[in-house]
Amino acid sequence: MSHSSSTHGSSKIQSNSCDTQFKLSRMKWLLNRPLLLIILMVHQSQADEDLVVAPSPDDDGEDLVVQDKNDYDMYNNTQINVCGNVADGVYLPYVGNCSKYIECENNTIKEVGSCMDLAKDNSQICDPTKPCELGYDPVLQVCTYMEKVQCLPTCESYRLSSFCYDNTCTKYVLCYYGKPVLRQCHDGLQYNNETDRCDFPEYVDCVANDCSATFQPEDIIYLGSKASCSKYFVCSNGHPWEQECAPGLAYNPSCKCCDFAENVNCRINSAARNILPYSRTPLRRADIKCPLMGTHFFPHKSRRDAYYYCVEGRGVTLDCTPGLYFDPKVEECRMPEFVGV
Ligand SMILES: *[C@@H]1O[C@H](CO)[C@@H](O)[C@H](O)[C@H]1NC(C)=O
Ligand SMILES: *[C@@H]1O[C@H](CO)[C@@H](O)[C@H](O)[C@H]1NC(C)=O
Ligand SMILES: *[C@@H]1O[C@H](CO)[C@@H](O)[C@H](O)[C@H]1NC(C)=O
Ligand SMILES: *[C@@H]1O[C@H](CO)[C@@H](O)[C@H](O)[C@H]1NC(C)=O
Repeated sequence: MSHSSSTHGSSKIQSNSCDTQFKLSRMKWLLNRPLLLIILMVHQSQADEDLVVAPSPDDDGEDLVVQDKNDYDMYNNTQINVCGNVADGVYLPYVGNCSKYIECENNTIKEVGSCMDLAKDNSQICDPTKPCELGYDPVLQVCTYMEKVQCLPTCESYRLSSFCYDNTCTKYVLCYYGKPVLRQCHDGLQYNNETDRCDFPEYVDCVANDCSATFQPEDIIYLGSKASCSKYFVCSNGHPWEQECAPGLAYNPSCKCCDFAENVNCRINSAARNILPYSRTPLRRADIKCPLMGTHFFPHKSRRDAYYYCVEGRGVTLDCTPGLYFDPKVEECRMPEFVGV
């Protein structure tokens, strides 16, 4: 009889052939380097969610004098706190570098780390004689081999597009002319990736910002759905897994169980709507003169539920979700009762 040892003295990282994902909670001990913000590189690769064509068909943005991309860092050009409203132990992807991640604690950035640090001094993960790229997968909140990672999209050269900032529920990235801008929904609104804008939570039902990757098994996280009384989520390894109560029962947050509907005070009303994402509507130029430099958001001239988005002199008109008004103070669409507050 021989020992079939699954643990290796030199490493606390479990590595078996079926499971090539390394839990962040295990890799954290390897990462004690000081926080280092690396210049954001904007890749020119294909964006997942190309929305619409540029303002005019022959405008490919090539004549545009854009600020050197290496000097533009989305995280330095915003007042938005990327970890705001995010539970402790939730890890966020880093826009512009799929190897990196952001660890949130106390609603602030605790650390910007890189999965590539795992490759160093660990030949079990990466054979030092071969090229090896590790990336951070925001959906599973783990580091793994780059080819398995679902990286965030990037901002394609000139198109208007937006994508969800995974695990925040409220934040998203808006792209135009290659420039990523961090955006944030207010008042409990959430980013809806089907309509590309802030929306009421009953139409989005995102809970990932509350799913810590470092939870303890004895403290399982249950989260009620915002869209359905009978639905709830169980967090495991940072990912919310959707559950459904038996017919006639509703999820009761006080017992973390399915209960008779009359015992649960759940009122969710999400009437059917028809909102086309920007990808399926023609892009409308802004009928204002945009400043030649920088990124700006302006209120619409005549509509409260629309606004202009200007990047380096080019502008488009964007609509709020019906029921929301643009608030110049936070430069985002929000519930009318909070506008200007
Ligand atoms: C962004 O800010 C960080 C920290 O303040 C700094 O290290 C980094 O160089 C900045 N990036 C750019 C592109 O200015
Ligand atoms: C991403 O970040 C890692 C670690 O900080 C760095 O080694 C790598 O060069 C970066 N990649 C790109 C494309 O900037
Ligand atoms: C979070 O903030 C609170 C109050 O500001 C502080 O008492 C607590 O120690 C902080 N937690 C961590 C883990 O830093
Ligand atoms: C929106 O996100 C959901 C869940 O992550 C995904 O299944 C869906 O494909 C996304 N929709 C679009 C239009 O990207």
